[in-house]
Amino acid sequence: MTLAPKNLQTIESHVLDLQRLHPSASGDFTSLLNDISFAAKVVSRDVTKAGLVEDILGATDEENVQGEVIQKLDDFAISVFLKCLGRRGQVCIMGSEELADPVFADTSQGTGKYIVVFDPLDGSSNIDANVSVGTIFGIWKRKSRLAQINQDDLLQPGRELVASGYIIYGSSTMFVYTAGKGVHGFTLDPSIGEFLLSHENIMTPFQSQIYSVNEAYEPRWSPEVREVLRQLKYGRGSKLSTRKDAPTEGAGMSSRYIGSLVADFHRNLLYGGIYLYPPTTSHPNGKLRLMCEAAPLALIVENAGGYASDGQRPILDVTPDDLHMRVPLYIGSREDVMWVETLLSKGSSAL
Ligand code: AHG
Ligand code: MN
Ligand code: MN
Repeated sequence: MTLAPKNLQTIESHVLDLQRLHPSASGDFTSLLNDISFAAKVVSRDVTKAGLVEDILGATDEENVQGEVIQKLDDFAISVFLKCLGRRGQVCIMGSEELADPVFADTSQGTGKYIVVFDPLDGSSNIDANVSVGTIFGIWKRKSRLAQINQDDLLQPGRELVASGYIIYGSSTMFVYTAGKGVHGFTLDPSIGEFLLSHENIMTPFQSQIYSVNEAYEPRWSPEVREVLRQLKYGRGSKLSTRKDAPTEGAGMSSRYIGSLVADFHRNLLYGGIYLYPPTTSHPNGKLRLMCEAAPLALIVENAGGYASDGQRPILDVTPDDLHMRVPLYIGSREDVMWVETLLSKGSSAL
């Protein structure tokens, strides 16, 4: 019997196939995705041997604009992505979670077509414990044709995304992206240094059995959010009194929370699940960032049949007022997220 390899399609050839659907395409988008996948390989190489390389684990003594500690590997990942992206002048501007201001890509002298915003290392506070971390990216097209790009170019809603994706540095390294034609996952084969198609056309279950949230924040949530969580746990429509009575077994959902958004999102995308990061008293607008975390993942989840909401409206409809704007995030299986949105929109009358 001959053992045939499962699939030998690389990201490069997958994106080239997409490009062929647009005969007028210049190839800039294709080469930009290639740059991202190359940067991901470099970060993957260094993340997987982090404990072996001197002086790469642990925190720097710097904080980002939101006052969060920057890890050494954050710094490393940012510089890899800034170096690799847009080397052929495709990118005019890049924004990163850890950098206060957007960075102009000098290779394009401000003329590149694309805007890339990324979270270079999501979940980086977990890295010293060998927990999965990730990279998230969103690609928008500039609107103005002027050499000087303006605020409207940078601050676009998720609906305008051309493509988005994430890389998860887990038990294997995976690259998952959408350019509006399905969601596709590629697994890095370290022996040949290529991402090979392993998950074609990912569709997320419509309804799920998993919720992911940091429940320690319950005292910091609004009564409405507490009610949502109570019903996820004890069963939809369950009355408050069930908390004292023995809850019906199997009525509620299971809980899974890694504390690394990309890892929680990826598991829920494949198995079905809802991830929640509601507003808290310490983060009244939520903690997660619209442009580098919520919007790119919202595009992925919608293309996989799921849904993402800020509690009132689709995340993809939220226009950022700042590169680092935060939003509450409810994302995952469509039916579950819609149910949460409906319950939250009823406000205190649901209590
Ligand atoms: P980052 O490491 O990019 O700052 O993101 C951390 C995020 C996200 O990965 C995770 O889901 C969330 O923070 C966890 O927050 P809590 O520790 O508040 O639960
Ligand atoms: Mn993050
Ligand atoms: Mn980060």
